[in-house]
Amino acid sequence: MRASAFFLLGLVSAVVADNFPYFQSVEFDQGKFGPYPNRSYVATPQLIAPTLNFLQSSPQCDNGTYTMVCLRGDRIPTTAKSPMILDDKGQLVWMNASYGETFALGVQKYNGSDYLTFWKGNPAVGGHGEGYYYMLDHEYKERYRISAGNGIPGDLHEFRITPEGTALVTLYPAKQATMSWRVRGGKNGFPNRKGWIFDSTVREIDIATDKVIFEWNASDHYEPTESQMPAGMAGARKNDGYDFFHINSIDKDYRGNYLVSARYMHGLTYINGTDGSIIWILGGKRNSFTDLSNGTATSFAYQHDGRWNPEHTGVNIFDNGEHFGTPSAYEGSRAVEILLDEEKMTAQLKRSFVNPRKIRSGSQGNMQVLPNGNVLVGYGLNAAWTEYAADGNVLCDVHIGAESDFNTIAVETYRVNKFPWVGRPTTPPDIAFKDGHVYVSWNGATEVKKWVLQASKGAGRNLKVIQQAEKDGFETAIPVNNTNWCFVKAVALDSKSRKLGVSKLIETGCVLDEVEEQPEDNELPEELPAEEVEIDNDVLDMSYWMNDRILFSLSLWKTLELLGIVGASIGMWELRHSRVLRKMYYVSVRKMWGT
Ligand SMILES: *[C@@H]1O[C@H](CO)[C@@H](O)[C@H](O)[C@H]1NC(C)=O
Ligand SMILES: *[C@@H]1O[C@H](CO)[C@@H](O)[C@H](O)[C@H]1NC(C)=O
Ligand SMILES: *[C@@H]1O[C@H](CO)[C@@H](O)[C@H](O)[C@H]1NC(C)=O
Ligand SMILES: *[C@@H]1O[C@H](CO)[C@@H](O)[C@H](O)[C@H]1NC(C)=O
Ligand SMILES: *[C@@H]1O[C@H](CO)[C@@H](O)[C@H](O)[C@H]1NC(C)=O
Ligand SMILES: *[C@@H]1O[C@H](CO)[C@@H](O)[C@H](O)[C@H]1NC(C)=O
Ligand SMILES: *[C@@H]1O[C@H](CO)[C@@H](O)[C@H](O)[C@H]1NC(C)=O
Ligand SMILES: *[C@@H]1O[C@H](CO)[C@@H](O)[C@H](O)[C@H]1NC(C)=O
Repeated sequence: MRASAFFLLGLVSAVVADNFPYFQSVEFDQGKFGPYPNRSYVATPQLIAPTLNFLQSSPQCDNGTYTMVCLRGDRIPTTAKSPMILDDKGQLVWMNASYGETFALGVQKYNGSDYLTFWKGNPAVGGHGEGYYYMLDHEYKERYRISAGNGIPGDLHEFRITPEGTALVTLYPAKQATMSWRVRGGKNGFPNRKGWIFDSTVREIDIATDKVIFEWNASDHYEPTESQMPAGMAGARKNDGYDFFHINSIDKDYRGNYLVSARYMHGLTYINGTDGSIIWILGGKRNSFTDLSNGTATSFAYQHDGRWNPEHTGVNIFDNGEHFGTPSAYEGSRAVEILLDEEKMTAQLKRSFVNPRKIRSGSQGNMQVLPNGNVLVGYGLNAAWTEYAADGNVLCDVHIGAESDFNTIAVETYRVNKFPWVGRPTTPPDIAFKDGHVYVSWNGATEVKKWVLQASKGAGRNLKVIQQAEKDGFETAIPVNNTNWCFVKAVALDSKSRKLGVSKLIETGCVLDEVEEQPEDNELPEELPAEEVEIDNDVLDMSYWMNDRILFSLSLWKTLELLGIVGASIGMWELRHSRVLRKMYYVSVRKMWGT
């Protein structure tokens, strides 16, 4: 027999309001709350989450998507370095700092499903990284961890999944080369002396088999002497190779060709996917295009994230414009769209986005055209991102670190992107009671709309729905009087009031005296006003379990004594399906078996 009960309850209006994020906080940007203003939560004290500063916000910012960042930087506490998902209100949705420093969290499709993707490894191997590429499913379970082919670790700069089920990744292999670049006093280099370069390699990997299906080495097509980045003392040792090219993004198009961004060449190279030959170069010393915009279409420098625009009529680039403070041609780093005519070989600046505070980022950064046409720009080295309308109007302008620490390496993000995402964690919701409030959250769950609290005066069966509240940010605080209620748990409901998950049952700290028998006041009238919620009685089932204790009826306890442990599970089943056993007694049994 199975019964559904209906509960008449209005939404709690007294949910405690959260103070974050900040809006136009001068103190935030002066560093008054630290270089990385942060907070924790009552039910998940181990999480250290950002408290963003919105300098500007707008309902026109794409709100069907989540902001995805990987926090890094030397002022971020180790336990806060994490890939993270934030909602359009700036509230945390998911983080898991056990991953530590990661790069370029995003959502990519593989084999028909969406995955959270990022790179993780050692990011400090001479300006590049050695690690692996992670793919988490909707339950935040690691489904794939892929290499740069044949098991070898890959570089951090790119991990792009193609519609063909392959991955584009970068590598920086050390390679011996004659030190033609090593110039002394303006004279020729040492053409006969051997030194080391860090080559830049494009690889396309078949994800299913880990096989390399395309490879391209920059050193076969570029001379180190073409680099815009002086070698300095680099190149004498294998672990200090001259990083002359510095690949940082790869885009493969429908023609099967590759578009590669090389930071130290100040150019994008379009590579033939069949034979690896260079089709054209945009920008840099070997630029193939006539600039129709008085130089502003081809004079980008130290750029990142070069991609075809969605129409394939040109490219989008984050033009850093400088390298840690070198002179720049522009007042701030630019996100640019450059139209290309591949027949006439002309390039024209279509639009350029510069942050209102003229942020100049000497490293990292990205540009993403969102599905609604807005343009999201991440400032990489600097802890900020800005969402622009297609016409360049600033809609949302957000800081995740104090401006006073910009241009240091205090708080960095590499790339910031927005994507739709559905997260369904398999962990239960977190719950805690503190100072007259129940605090509930569920790291990674994107579909929770409401929290319903069930509580009992004594222990055991008579759990009643006592409160419900709209989910409010990452953690929702709901007032509960623990003079009345001794045990409480939370049920997460989605927008259609379907049960998504149930927290464990916790004690509120009241004194347990006699167990009161409570009326069966959960039986409710047939006619329901519109706002009411249906709660399946299955929700109540696990109420017998509480931490390391198990609560029994007296008759069940007798059964247990007779039958032992096996009998206990049979007894439980009986209890679940019988409405006869109303009168509950409880016995507390500590760790009767194993775990
Ligand atoms: C984290 O926040 C606390 C205040 O809540 C602040 O004292 C601390 O400086 C912050 N940490 C960093 C790295 O900014
Ligand atoms: C989401 O954005 C649309 C316009 O893009 C706007 O009409 C709507 O009000 C926004 N919703 C919220 C909750 O901000
Ligand atoms: C966090 O990630 C680790 C792997 O690094 C995983 O074992 C763990 O289950 C994750 N935690 C949550 C709450 O998802
Ligand atoms: C792709 O998904 C199908 C089922 O949806 C599965 O049978 C197949 O193994 C998957 N392929 C890979 C390479 O994971
Ligand atoms: C790229 O260089 C590596 C050595 O660093 C070499 O093993 C590989 O064959 C080269 N690939 C191509 C396509 O030339
Ligand atoms: C790419 O290379 C193939 C094979 O060499 C050639 O047939 C094709 O024309 C090239 N495409 C372009 C755009 O250069
Ligand atoms: C073209 O750019 C130069 C600087 O590079 C500038 O002095 C000149 O005014 C520009 N001309 C036009 C028409 O914008
Ligand atoms: C909690 O409930 C008790 C008993 O009903 C009542 O005396 C007390 O005033 C309540 N406390 C609050 C803060 O509402």
